Amino acid sequence: MTFLEDCKLRRWIQWNFNNVYISKTAQLRAFCNACRLRHCLHHRSFAYITVRDRLPRILTKAVDSVHRHMDTFFEEHGQEGVEAEKRAIYLLAKLRNEVQTDKPALPLTDGLPDVDLWNEYLEQQQARLDKDEHPSWFKSPWLYMECYMYRRIQESLQLNPPMCDFDVFNEAKTQSFVGSQQAIIALCTYFLEITKKIEGFKDTQLKAELLLLMQVALWGNKCDLSISAGQDNSQSFNPLATLESLKPFILVDDFECVWELLINNKKNKTSETTCARIDIVLDNSGFELVTDLVLADFLITSQLADVIHFHGKSIPWFVSDTTKKDFDWTLKKMKEANHMQMSTCGMMWEKNVKQGIWIYHDHLFWTGPHEFCDMSVVAHDLYIELQKSNLIFFKGDLNYRKLTGDRKWNYTVSFDTALRGFQPAALCSLRTLKADIQVGLKPGQGEQLDVSDSEWMTSGRYGVIQFSGAYQK
Ligand code: F6P
Ligand code: MG
Repeated sequence: MTFLEDCKLRRWIQWNFNNVYISKTAQLRAFCNACRLRHCLHHRSFAYITVRDRLPRILTKAVDSVHRHMDTFFEEHGQEGVEAEKRAIYLLAKLRNEVQTDKPALPLTDGLPDVDLWNEYLEQQQARLDKDEHPSWFKSPWLYMECYMYRRIQESLQLNPPMCDFDVFNEAKTQSFVGSQQAIIALCTYFLEITKKIEGFKDTQLKAELLLLMQVALWGNKCDLSISAGQDNSQSFNPLATLESLKPFILVDDFECVWELLINNKKNKTSETTCARIDIVLDNSGFELVTDLVLADFLITSQLADVIHFHGKSIPWFVSDTTKKDFDWTLKKMKEANHMQMSTCGMMWEKNVKQGIWIYHDHLFWTGPHEFCDMSVVAHDLYIELQKSNLIFFKGDLNYRKLTGDRKWNYTVSFDTALRGFQPAALCSLRTLKADIQVGLKPGQGEQLDVSDSEWMTSGRYGVIQFSGAYQK
């Protein structure tokens, strides 16, 4: 290693592994991987393919969606709407060109409350580069650039006022819900059968049902529209029918820890006023959201929790992520469904919201560029809020990437280490693997998978139920 490389390595370790113990070999391996990403995304990496193929396809679909709504903009806003639509299309097409030609990332200009946060982040990225280099699509960290693209989509609309609230992914999300109707019916029917008997359940039965519904929520994460670049990815079959056959694909299963925590909380409740709070950091709307709502309802009905706090996105994000509009729309559609079990669930869920048993939050941090280990500084209020929880579920792949900083960790590095101090409360990730990162595996497990299935980290075929935290808060 040359002197210059050695200095870069030291600097890099300081930025990335602040106070985290990691062996010299692992540091070196991580450094090499990061350099590959920094100087040019490796041509066969999943990150490279995402930026080269998937992101431009998503932007093309966004342009189509705006274009197809021209009549609506005209009806609602007259000629002003049409002009806004044209300018938004221009900005989205320009953004696609910036991605495809690896143009430098630009500061945001739309005046939303998170502009400074994003622009400061960009400056930090710039500070890490030589003077003649600039953060850009194929050279900067994948996680950052991918998040930045969704924020730029919002900017394209935000700069053209009548369009601020237009969700370019709305149709795809709606379609994904509709396409999953049979699976939703099967799940709701099963769930309502449980609720009829739940009062007489012994702990072993409660545990078995919790495990089942957590697995449904885990595999529901296969249905995201970012991995499919906006193509339909709905759940077409009964999710309960495949759970048994999917068990070998759960690479880390910390369900026992989750169960111990919840049942001990329930047993140790000292008074009626002590409240067991569970938070769910949501991911995709459509079928996955319904699985999360069923899990949330089960936690309340079984008295394993008294209140559920949901966390969604404040702008359209990674195509299918849940916004407040999606959340409300889903509850409404469930309630209005022409199927008894679906509409019963919809009515119960609306009641939960009205009674304050279910509380929906959004916070700009979730649609920012930061990893979660930065939350206590960058979004202190959110961190304090999460500290009130007994258990936080983090749904999906992107949340996992942000929990672990999207680093190329050794497979056997512990989840706690990869979280780098992010521990507002006990937490559990329910995630199907759709990005090349995984921690907490047994020695040799990752290497074996490398041999048996070259796409194990990115295909969504595998999943984890991964826990961090003490049993007792
Ligand atoms: O575009 C790829 C990606 O960032 C992957 O990491 C992941 O497949 C997807 O987007 C988001 O997945 P999820 O909806 O599970 O967070
Ligand atoms: Mg998502």
